[in-house]
Amino acid sequence: MKQRQITDKTRLVGVIGWPVDDSLNPAMHNAAFTEIGLDWAYIPLPVQPQQLDQALKGLVALNFVGVNVVAPHQQAVMRYMDELSDAARITGAVNTIHIQDRKFYGYNTDAAGFLNAMQEVGYDLQGLRVAVLGAGGAARAAIFSLASARAERITVFNRTSERAAFLVDDLTEAFPASRLSFEPLNSETLAALPGKVDMVINTTSVGMHPQSATCPWPADVPIPPDTIFYDLVYNPLDTLFLQRARVAGIRTIDGLGMLVYQGAFAFKEWTGRPAPVEVMRQVCVQELELHLGL
Ligand code: ATR
Repeated sequence: MKQRQITDKTRLVGVIGWPVDDSLNPAMHNAAFTEIGLDWAYIPLPVQPQQLDQALKGLVALNFVGVNVVAPHQQAVMRYMDELSDAARITGAVNTIHIQDRKFYGYNTDAAGFLNAMQEVGYDLQGLRVAVLGAGGAARAAIFSLASARAERITVFNRTSERAAFLVDDLTEAFPASRLSFEPLNSETLAALPGKVDMVINTTSVGMHPQSATCPWPADVPIPPDTIFYDLVYNPLDTLFLQRARVAGIRTIDGLGMLVYQGAFAFKEWTGRPAPVEVMRQVCVQELELHLGL
């Protein structure tokens, strides 16, 4: 790829997190800028939690257009935002900041990314009965989208019940018409799913590199027939969870679409231009094959 010249005119965006070295966002966005000929640069910015306040002020001083926000800052940045999108407010997490006239606008593009990835593979969420494994930040983004798109029923399965209870309370308040409930994540509760669910989504980190030999679906529980298994984990793309579902003959969706579309929505928000999604997708696949746990 041709080296782009960075000058004082170059518009700056980046990612703040601690650490940020595993983020695919820099490669994805820089390739997108090159592809459509924008004089922009995307910079990884490791920011320790105790430096968050100074770092955000620094972004304004240095004329950054915006940043992505990764762990552990997605909740901590909320109080600095002048405005929040519905998805950011309801999920309680910001993954994209747009700075305009020294004001911070906070978004959660994971939620829109999840929805777009589902629509891309041809699934209409309306009327679906969904089991969500996990109750962390990724689960909140997915459930926000599922409830917005009027899924028929959403059941959250989590190891820690208190966390699932908080999630269900928060999201039920935001979507009173949604049918949201929670169960413990174990073999008995999951064994009761056949016939009651159309899709199972893994939002936990189980199966992610370097623990790619683990699976959030217990080995002693058969895969429910006539369901779709969707894994938000993208490193590796072909998780044990998806492999087991394929062996059982059901359809699967991997985490690449959500990864790419959360980036595409951030790109559109900052630049005002549609993102070159296919280039971003190719770069993610290349990076995953080259550098991460594949
Ligand atoms: P993210 O923002 O990526 O969702 P997170 O907020 O740390 O990350 O949430 C991680 C999710 O994976 C949680 O639902 C967590 O369950 P707990 O709430 O019980 O901690 C789940 N998780 C992580 N490791 C797990 C494991 N070994 N078994 C079951 N669930 C696990």
